[in-house]
Amino acid sequence: MSGSSPELPIVVLDALMPTTQRLVADRRGSMVWEVESHRGRYAVKVGRPIEATADWPAQPWTALAPAREGAVMYRLGYENFAYGEWEHGTWNFQPWHEGPDLYRLWEPCRGSDSSLQPHRSVALGCAEALAGLHAKGWAHGDVQPAHFIIGPEQTHLIDLALARGRQLPEGYDFPFRGCLVHYEAPEISRSVLATGEAEPTQEADVYALGASLLISATGWRAMEYPDDAPRSVQREAVANGRRRPVRAPGELGELIDAMLSQAPEDRPTIYEVGKALS
Ligand SMILES: Nc1ncnc2c1ncn2[C@@H]1O[C@H](COP(=O)(O)OP(=O)(O)O)[C@@H](O)[C@H]1O
Ligand SMILES: [Mg+2]
Repeated sequence: MSGSSPELPIVVLDALMPTTQRLVADRRGSMVWEVESHRGRYAVKVGRPIEATADWPAQPWTALAPAREGAVMYRLGYENFAYGEWEHGTWNFQPWHEGPDLYRLWEPCRGSDSSLQPHRSVALGCAEALAGLHAKGWAHGDVQPAHFIIGPEQTHLIDLALARGRQLPEGYDFPFRGCLVHYEAPEISRSVLATGEAEPTQEADVYALGASLLISATGWRAMEYPDDAPRSVQREAVANGRRRPVRAPGELGELIDAMLSQAPEDRPTIYEVGKALS
C-alpha cells in the first residue's frame, strides 16, 4: 500500500457510490474525505492502526476511533450516518458541514495591526454547540478550534471519537489518553502524567473552549512552554498552571480567563458561558 494514493474502503464505496471525492485530511492513523453522492454530501472518516516508530509506541486505538465515534453518534440520536469495519480498522460517514473552522474564521482578528475584534456571536455559537452535548450528559474530550465548523445557520462541533457519556460497545472503546496539550485542562494533564489516562469531563471541555477561543482570537496559546518541547514537558507546564499573560479583547477576555481557571470548580458551566455571551 505504501506509496500509492489512499483509497476509500470498498464497503464505503458500495454504501455511498460517490460521484466525486476529495481527500481533506491524511494524518497518521486517520483519513477524512469529502464525498458527494446521490444521497448528499458526507464526511468519510477511515481509521487504521499507527505502527510503532523509533519515536512513538504503536497506537492501535486510531483504528477504532471512527467506529467509536459512530457508536457515540448512535447513542446521541444523530441521523444520517453509518459506521463499520474495513480491512485495517473502522470507518464512519456523517453529514458534511460547510463552513470555516473557528481558527480560520478569526484569522483576520490575529496579528498586532488588526483592528478587527473577534465576534461574540461566533463564540456564542461554539458555546451552544458544546452545551447541546453537555445537556445530554456527555463530555466531548477533544474540544479544539478545528472541531468547530461555523456554518451559515449553525455551528457544528465535530469529532466525537473521544466523547464520554454512556457505555459503548467494548470492541470499539478505548481509554482516554488526553488530547492536544494546548487545549488540555491542568487536571487532565496531571492525570495523564501520573497514570497515562484521564477522564474527559464537562469542566475540562469548558477549559478547552476557553483555550480555543483565546488562540483563535490572539494567536497565543494559554500556557507557557516551547512549541518543540516534548509532550510530557508541555503537560508539566499545563499541570503547574504556567499561564501566559495574554488576553482576548474586552469582555471576552474576562470570560476566557474564568474558563481557564486552574480548579475545575472555579470555571463557569457551559450554560453560564452561553449566558455571558448572549
Ligand atoms: N462532518 C464534517 N464536516 C466537515 N468537515 C469535516 C467533518 N468531519 C471532519 N471534517 C474535516 O476533517 C478534519 C479531521 O476530522 P476529525 O473529525 O477531526 O478527525 P481526526 O481528528 O480523527 O483526523 C476536520 O478538521 C475537518 O476539517
Ligand atoms: Mg480531530
